[in-house]
Amino acid sequence: MIIIRATEQHWAALSLIAKDTFVDTFGHLYAAKDLEAHIQNKYNQAVMVHEINTEHVYLVCEDDDKAGEAPFGFCQLKPDSRSELMPEDEYASPCWEIHRFYIRKEKQGVRAGAKLMEFAMERIKEAGVKSIWLSVWSENYRAQKFYEKFGIKHSGKTFTYWVGNHADLEFLYVGKLD
Ligand SMILES: CC(C)(COP(=O)(O)OP(=O)(O)OC[C@H]1O[C@@H](n2cnc3c(N)ncnc32)[C@H](O)[C@@H]1OP(=O)(O)O)[C@@H](O)C(=O)NCCC(=O)NCCS
Repeated sequence: MIIIRATEQHWAALSLIAKDTFVDTFGHLYAAKDLEAHIQNKYNQAVMVHEINTEHVYLVCEDDDKAGEAPFGFCQLKPDSRSELMPEDEYASPCWEIHRFYIRKEKQGVRAGAKLMEFAMERIKEAGVKSIWLSVWSENYRAQKFYEKFGIKHSGKTFTYWVGNHADLEFLYVGKLD
């Protein structure tokens, strides 16, 4: 597996990974029209190209023998992002967010995610980051276990994430780096 940083040429492939993986993982929770609207709002060309070309760090994984052809997962790091639930005296700056982490269903469970996370954590440490956070659905036990392996744990704080008129209970996961 190889990992590269995305350029804007990747936007369509990443949008498809995000859409398919979001639907596979969370699609059962939402009304069809809310799901469609959410995908359109979050994974459209304008939004993704803007993110790739500005501050977001999109790290993409591909098979060795299919480099440049078929990315199958990505994580999206958002520099200088702090949850309002994280006071600065407890969580030092710089603080980054792991904004999205998607591995295609057919590639899950064979440590692709772990390799991508190890790579992402190296980039995060190189950037001198002191605190990281992410939001994970309260019933996404697989992702919770995955993040906990990397020292990113439930802070005890929760919030609500809306898709259409459906409210998801989310856990604030946090990590502190030396
Ligand atoms: C969560 C996700 C990123 C993990 O990536 P992955 O490639 O499937 O995970 P890996 O194979 O690298 O597994 C690493 C660790 O995660 C945990 N894990 C993986 N699959 C698991 C499962 N089915 N059940 C419980 N824990 C699991 C294990 O702790 C595993 O450690 P181990 O190898 O020592 O057993 C991936 O499954 C995914 O994209 N899921 C759908 C989208 C999603 O939920 N994203 C996170 C949103 S917050």
